[in-house]
Amino acid sequence: MVHSSSPIGVFDSGVGGLSVLQALRQELPGESFVYLADNAYAPYGERGDAFVAERTLAIGNYLLRSHAIKALVVACNTATAAAIHLLRAQWPDLLLVGVEPALKPAAASSRTGHIGVIGTRGTLGSAKFAQLQASLPPTVQCHLQPCDGLAYAIERSALQSDDAAQADVAALCQRYLQALGHFGSGDGSMDTLVLGCTHYVFVTPLLRSLLGPQVTLIDTGAPVARQTARLLQTAKLQTPDKTPAQVQLLTTGDLALLRAGASRWLQLSTADCHTVALPAPDYA
Ligand code: DGL
Repeated sequence: MVHSSSPIGVFDSGVGGLSVLQALRQELPGESFVYLADNAYAPYGERGDAFVAERTLAIGNYLLRSHAIKALVVACNTATAAAIHLLRAQWPDLLLVGVEPALKPAAASSRTGHIGVIGTRGTLGSAKFAQLQASLPPTVQCHLQPCDGLAYAIERSALQSDDAAQADVAALCQRYLQALGHFGSGDGSMDTLVLGCTHYVFVTPLLRSLLGPQVTLIDTGAPVARQTARLLQTAKLQTPDKTPAQVQLLTTGDLALLRAGASRWLQLSTADCHTVALPAPDYA
């Protein structure tokens, strides 16, 4: 039985979803969170739907059974695209929030009508993304770039803050932005870039330096946090507590990596990071 003091579960393939956790903590400062990074099987982006769906269901099951979460935030575009419908079918009463590339806000704010979208191969190739794209006004043109290897490189850069790790990330960002085409405020140029993967939020300063000041960068952390707050409020499950509550950080893989991401990007204590064993997937 869940109650208002139960934690909110948040998960991602790795440390990228910490960007969503950051927004959630800002919006809901009194709430407790259990964050699970599936580092043993990250990145998800190039794995295929069946694999990602199986992991997502296993993680949902674990967070519900072992942590009695009152809501689940899927802080991963790839897992949302592959499996949010399966989570809904399996646990119809669960308060569930997913993330998807913010195409609609981008379409609303773009002046040129040309939007760049970066994300994983899984997200950008999904039926859910195709549906979202089809819902945009016909005057808007989306330019898509799957960024193989980028989420992984960002994970490594959290762990190894040396120049080589940073250079790998910079080279990939440069390559993928170049492949997208011309950015700027002139006719036919992309004036908006959608960050369709929660990992990419952590390279916002780099993307900004590569694109210049006229390009708007859009991510989904804040709207996802607001949607979570709305659901909790409607279900009368918001904690009355206003003091900063507990955050547990769990990984199925490399503990040093989770600790590095948590302290570097969220200034969270490494003492709250632990490893957890989940059943191995059939596809491993
Ligand atoms: N952070 C994830 C996303 O938003 C997944 C990246 C990956 O594991 O490939 O899609």
